[in-house]
Formats: sequence, C-alpha cells, structure tokens
Amino acid sequence: MTYINQLSQFEDQEVTLKGWVYNIRSSKAIHFLEVRDGSGICQCIVSADDVTTEVFDAAGTLKQESSLEITGKVLKDDRSIGGYELHASDLKIIQIAENYPITPKDHGVEFLMENRHLWLRSRRQWAAMQVRNAIQFSIHKFFQEEGFIQMDAPIFTGNAAEGTTTLFETDYFDEKAYLTQSGQLYGEAMAMAHGKIYTFGPTFRAEKSKTRRHLTEFWMIEPEMAFYDLDMNMDLAEKMLKYILKDVLDHKKPELEILERDTSLLEKAIDNPFVRMSYTDAVDQLKSEKTAEMLSKMESDRREELNQIQNELEEIKKEHGSAKKWRKTQIDQRIKEIHARVDQIEEDLRNIPVWMESAKNFRWGNDFGGSDETILTMQYETPLMIHRYPAEVKAFYMKRDPEDEKLALAVDVLAPEGYGEIIGGSQREDDLSELQKRIAEHDLPEEVFSWFLDLRRYGTVPHSGYGLGLERTVSWICGLSHVRETIPFPRMLGRLRP
Ligand code: 4AD
Ligand code: MG
Repeated sequence: MTYINQLSQFEDQEVTLKGWVYNIRSSKAIHFLEVRDGSGICQCIVSADDVTTEVFDAAGTLKQESSLEITGKVLKDDRSIGGYELHASDLKIIQIAENYPITPKDHGVEFLMENRHLWLRSRRQWAAMQVRNAIQFSIHKFFQEEGFIQMDAPIFTGNAAEGTTTLFETDYFDEKAYLTQSGQLYGEAMAMAHGKIYTFGPTFRAEKSKTRRHLTEFWMIEPEMAFYDLDMNMDLAEKMLKYILKDVLDHKKPELEILERDTSLLEKAIDNPFVRMSYTDAVDQLKSEKTAEMLSKMESDRREELNQIQNELEEIKKEHGSAKKWRKTQIDQRIKEIHARVDQIEEDLRNIPVWMESAKNFRWGNDFGGSDETILTMQYETPLMIHRYPAEVKAFYMKRDPEDEKLALAVDVLAPEGYGEIIGGSQREDDLSELQKRIAEHDLPEEVFSWFLDLRRYGTVPHSGYGLGLERTVSWICGLSHVRETIPFPRMLGRLRP
C-alpha cells in the first residue's frame, strides 16, 4: 500500500492506494475519481481502454465516500492537485457508501457541526487538522531543543488557578473537585524541581460567552522557568512563536493554500521583532486621534468597497442570462464570494461605530475587550506584546512591578489581523508574605494553597511562565475566523456532541 503524499517517489511506477472517493465525474469512456487516503487527495483516471469492462462498470457505481483500493501507474501532472495522477489498471470496491450527507454544495455551519464526525473528512477541515498537528509537533521540538522537559499537570484539581467563576465542578468521591483551568500552579512546583518545564494538556473553562475565541475545553501549553524575569519570559514567547511560524510555513504551505491563507503577515512576524508596548501606552494609543482616524478611514474604505462590489454584482447578474455554461459557473462562484464579502462588510460597518465609542471612552484600569484588541493589533504587522497590566484585572499569583505597585508584571501576546490574545503570562510573585496577602485579597482559601505557598518557603526564586492557547494559535495561523474549526471535536457553550 502506498500513501498519496509519497507519490513523488513512485513516478511511472505501479502502486496501490487505499482510500475513499472524494468526488467522481464520469463521461462515456472515463471516470475521474478524486481519491483521498488521509495523507492527501489524488485524481485517479479509470479509462475504459485500460481496465476490464467489469472494473469500468464497477467504478461507475461508486458514490461519494465509498471505500476502495485502486491500482495504477503514477504520472506527473502539474495541473493536478498534489502534482500526480494515477492511471488505473484495477480497482476493488470495499464498500459503496450510502448517500453522503455532506455534498459539494454549501451547507450551514450548524448542519456541519452536527456532522462534525464526517465534516472532518472535508478538504479544508483536513488541512486545518494537518496544520494543528504540525504546530503541536513544532511546540514539542522547540521546547525540547531549548532544554525544557514536558511534565503533566493533573486534570482534577482541588483549587482554582484563574478565578472561580469559570470552574467546572465535579464530584470526587463526595469531595468537590474541579477540572483544571491551567496547569500553571503545578508547573511552578515542577520548575522548582527541573528548572525549565512545559505542560501540554487539556484545560477547561465554564465560559458562558459565545464568541469566536472561546471553547469550554481547549489545549494549553504552559512553560514555566526558574530564574526568568518578565523580559526573559517575553523573549522566550517571541522566539517560540517565530519558530512555530517558520516550521509551519516550511512544511505546510500546501495545506495553507487549501485554506486560502494569505501568509504575508505570518512571514513578516518571522522576520521582524514583535512590537512590545506597556498597557498604559496601549490605552493612550486606543484613545488617540490616530486610532479614531484609522477607524473612520476604515469605515469609508468599506463603504466604497461595498458600492463597488454591488455594482459588479448587478453587472454579472445581467450577464448571467446569456452567458455560456462555463461562464455561468464562474459567475455563480463570484456571486457567492460577493455575498460573503458583503456580509463581512456589513458586519464591519455595524461594528466600527461601536468600536470607536468603546476605544474613545476606554478607562485606564479596565481589561481590554475583544474589539479593543482588534483595534490595537490592526495597526501592526507583527504580534503585539502588551505588558504591565493593572494588577486588579489580573490573577493573584502575578508579581507586582517594583516601579509601580498598581501594575502586574504580566504580558499578553495579541495576534495580528484581529485574532486576539493567544498568550497570557507573567513573572510570578515569589515572596511568601506578598503572596499570602494576594490570596486573602482575592478571597481565596489559604488552606488549599498551602502547598503552593511552600514553593515560597523552601528556596524561592524569581520565576516566570506563560500559557499559549493552542486553538487560538491554530485559528490565527490557518486564518480561521472561529475556533470551532481548529480542534477535532469542539466543546463550547451549546455543543457537547458529537
Ligand atoms: O490568559 P490565560 O487565562 O492564562 C493562564 O491560564 C495562565 N495560567 C497561563 C500561564 O501563565 N501559565 O490563558 C492562556 C491562553 C490565552 O491567551 C488563550 O490563548 C487561551 O489560553 N484561552 C482560551 N482558548 C480558548 N478558549 C478559551 N475559553 C480560552 N481561555 C484562554
Ligand atoms: Mg489571558
């Protein structure tokens, strides 16, 4: 058995592929089968001249997602997806599939989500999961090469790490337990044993918000480093993101093409230093005249574009009636694109005035909302690292800025193009009495944190770490607007199945 992604090694040789029919077109003497095998898609040509009548007729009975084995000669063909075609000499049907619910026509997202177990086979979904895997592999490589060891934090926990409002509670033999929101507190203990560690595991948040960025179950990578301050922490985060981007661009270009990802900004992020800005400067920028101007320019640009494509729409609709068949198909495709773009522009036009108001009225001390993050990142071509947030909006474990007690030595990394926060991290409070004070201020029960406080009793050292959200990272790199397409089986508000 040969896999489609190995075909280049078998040019002009005979191979057998095992897979599923992705698409089939037939004429009198030829069946064109698009066969997928998990590693890729290959066009297979079953010609009446090359196979027996039984095989030719059998191929004619194949339907979408039928399973089969197909044997034939590998020929280079640059126009073909993947660059190779298979000219079949034989074919064995494993099963003729029932009528497949996901057809090449457009389906609504709700329908596709109900059929997630099948939707995963579609080309775009396939490409996104291939990129997700490449990112996961790259993260492991990066940390291992940097001398970190992976250590696993528990999933059942007895205490909150990131605030009590988003805890999933379970029953642990008549005791209350929670699904972990973050492995960090355990990561700190492990870093005191091994120096540099990272966790890579599922985390859970009972987020009641239905947004494009929130899942209730997501994967987080949390490095924790003894003897690192905030600057070293930021340097590491930047180096890691550049490493991942380079890896994905080096190895997953075809998948990003399937996703129609414009990779120019990803390349800029590899080649340029990330912009670093304090929270206070970010607030000034948000409220600035320059931001207001940018938003009003965006508004007028959108209106102009809307006019233009609506004119185009009228023109091509007129043309449609008398157009040749191939041109009709082209026009139908373009009409679909225009409708999607119009929806996007109309959404932007509804949003921009709201964004303008919220940016102008933003008060120092508040946390940034999604739209504030979008506005800030729109002005840069690399990820934006915002550091030194008001301590009030951040977690209890963060160290205060010695220069200004109101600030926490925190950093958030915001991805460009409106993808928002992908990393949250900080330098940790390493002083016992300060940490005890914070725990009290946050109304947290000191008993459950006694083990965590021990880390400050026995050889405390400055240390730092951060958490990278895997799904948000995948959504940014793939250019997917919603995190639901970045994980095989998303769990979010209103979605527990399949
Ligand atoms: O900023 P967060 O809450 O940070 C922590 O949990 C720290 N304990 C991490 C650390 O310092 N070790 O979450 C970190 C990242 C976010 O930047 C985001 O990418 C992702 O986790 N994240 C989510 N992703 C999807 N759905 C959600 N509901 C998420 N909440 C956070
Ligand atoms: Mg955060």
